[in-house]
Amino acid sequence: MIKKLAQRILNRVKRFLLSDIHSRINTLEYRSFNRRFYAIEQCAEYLIGAKLEGDYLEFGVYQGTTFSHAYHWMSPHFENMRFLAFDSFEGLPKPQGIDIVDGYSSHFHEKQFSCSQEEFIQNIVSKGVSLDKLQIIQGWFDKTLSHEKAQEYNLKKISVAWIDCDYYESTIPVLNFITPYIEIGSVIIFDDWRCYRNHPDFGEQRACREWLESNKQIKLSELFSFGWNGIAFTVIST
Ligand SMILES: C[S@@+](CC[C@H](N)C(=O)[O-])C[C@H]1O[C@@H](n2cnc3c(N)ncnc32)[C@H](O)[C@@H]1O
Repeated sequence: MIKKLAQRILNRVKRFLLSDIHSRINTLEYRSFNRRFYAIEQCAEYLIGAKLEGDYLEFGVYQGTTFSHAYHWMSPHFENMRFLAFDSFEGLPKPQGIDIVDGYSSHFHEKQFSCSQEEFIQNIVSKGVSLDKLQIIQGWFDKTLSHEKAQEYNLKKISVAWIDCDYYESTIPVLNFITPYIEIGSVIIFDDWRCYRNHPDFGEQRACREWLESNKQIKLSELFSFGWNGIAFTVIST
């Protein structure tokens, strides 16, 4: 009798602890996405004010949480906007070169953020995203981001490029890819700008600096920052 009672109490305590852990994880996830959602909403308001036409491109979509939010906030205002999702759907590649930086790396690692294309589609459909305006480009950026491919997708103008691929090496092909399709007013968002302890010689900050150095005609102006990590720029010269 006493043993049964003790077992019941133990089970209750276990359930309570587990539900507490789950709710803490959910709160943390919500907090981290809340800032991204805010960034998407700010960006949508900016696009409406700027009357800027073009497509939304996200480089590194993972489970599609930010992507779905962008779809809901932007598509009602821009009838012709398409939503292009670029990802390996195998998670992060193995870090190479300067991305292997002990202590500064925000602990990114191979296969982190892995989510299959099927799971991505299921998630965004369950969030009400219509597949009509969608293109999914699966593969490693250094293979899929070519100008032949851009022509295949009939890419003309980018209104938003959301760059969320964590590594310096992953960001380089993205910036080279978007170069001919940005125009004055286009928004470029770097989700991981301040990863690597906000050090300018690593990650997306370094890739962006080098890109601007080799494309002197391109100039950016800061639009806003979000969370501890992200930053949005608009293009002021191409
Ligand atoms: C942090 S997650 C993206 C999160 C997503 N933007 C969101 O807000 O929900 C990073 C994604 O970048 C992708 N990725 C990183 N480097 C890549 C590369 N070189 N080629 C293809 N995908 C890459 C990973 O597969 C992963 O899904």
